[in-house]
Amino acid sequence: MEKKNIDWANLGFGYVETDKRFVANYKDGAWDKGALISDSTVAISECAGVLQYAQTCFEGLKAYTTEDGHIVTFRPDLNAARMKASCERLEMPVFPEERFIQAVSDTVAANEAYVPPYGSGATLYVRPFMFGSSAVIGVSPADEYQFRVFTTPVGPYFKGGVKPLTIRVSDFDRAAPHGTGHIKAGLNYAMSLYAIVDAHQKGFDENMYLDPATRTKVEETGGANFLFVTRDNKVVTPKSDSILPSITRRSLVTVAKEYLGLEVEEREVAFEEVKDFAECGLCGTAAVISPVGKIVDHGNEICLPSGMTEMGPVTKKLYETLTGIQMGRIEAPEGWIHVIK
Ligand code: PLP
Ligand code: COI
Repeated sequence: MEKKNIDWANLGFGYVETDKRFVANYKDGAWDKGALISDSTVAISECAGVLQYAQTCFEGLKAYTTEDGHIVTFRPDLNAARMKASCERLEMPVFPEERFIQAVSDTVAANEAYVPPYGSGATLYVRPFMFGSSAVIGVSPADEYQFRVFTTPVGPYFKGGVKPLTIRVSDFDRAAPHGTGHIKAGLNYAMSLYAIVDAHQKGFDENMYLDPATRTKVEETGGANFLFVTRDNKVVTPKSDSILPSITRRSLVTVAKEYLGLEVEEREVAFEEVKDFAECGLCGTAAVISPVGKIVDHGNEICLPSGMTEMGPVTKKLYETLTGIQMGRIEAPEGWIHVIK
């Protein structure tokens, strides 16, 4: 298989059109069998549920070339389960989990020429998504839906790779109490756009969102969960009903406990505590673990002792162990690595 002529080492996190995508349609109460197609465009009613009332959700995962040359994805069953939860919350039909995993595998295999080589630092990002495609004008769920999976080769989510980030405490919320923060609905990202553009304009890499009800507890950023390390090497990660259950974060909790022998606390984290932590990282599929060096709260700077030049030592061990598992250098827990070919 000849790879595409792409400068893998210098890819950013952007969209590059690849050859094939999977498309299935839901009509009259059932999914059709779907197909891999070449057309990257979508034609739907001007009154489609997604266009009028944002009835859409998505997933994100990565395909990698492992050290021994296999193409794999990481825990796609958890993406399938989370998409099911998103669909149920948005009154959308579930695309069966087994079929989700097969569609992801088929789309990756069909775009093998775009799967970055081992050691290149790049990966193939896989984006499954679904939207209401039939017309709705009164506020109600659509009758027809499209499920698609496309891929795009990507480099690091944050420019500068593993350089520590500067983030700010946001005055905007990304989720409401009892809202949709715990699912991967497009609407959560639409409402974060104003805040992220404003953050970037003011020189910050991301927003730290606090809990929308009391603004006293740490939630997450626009695209990643938080992981903190205490001065005595405990890993602490916020627990909340309004954050996305990150697959990376859940995997890192296992890595911390089972591979590194660290104590882990999954609990509410008061913003007041943040100044006492030794390390902070953002974890997600796109972010992997991106270290945070500074958190700015309305002019008041919290500088993490790990500094602005390197990842903290525990964050680094977590990063190296997780990416080692993903790339096949370290033995993975049962069921974590899904081999495509
Ligand atoms: N939180 C938000 C809001 C996200 O968009 C993502 C990305 O998917 C994450 C957390 C990380 O989740 P995961 O590790 O499953 O990619
Ligand atoms: C991911 O990490 O897969 C995401 O979906 C985050 C997104 C904001 C790019």
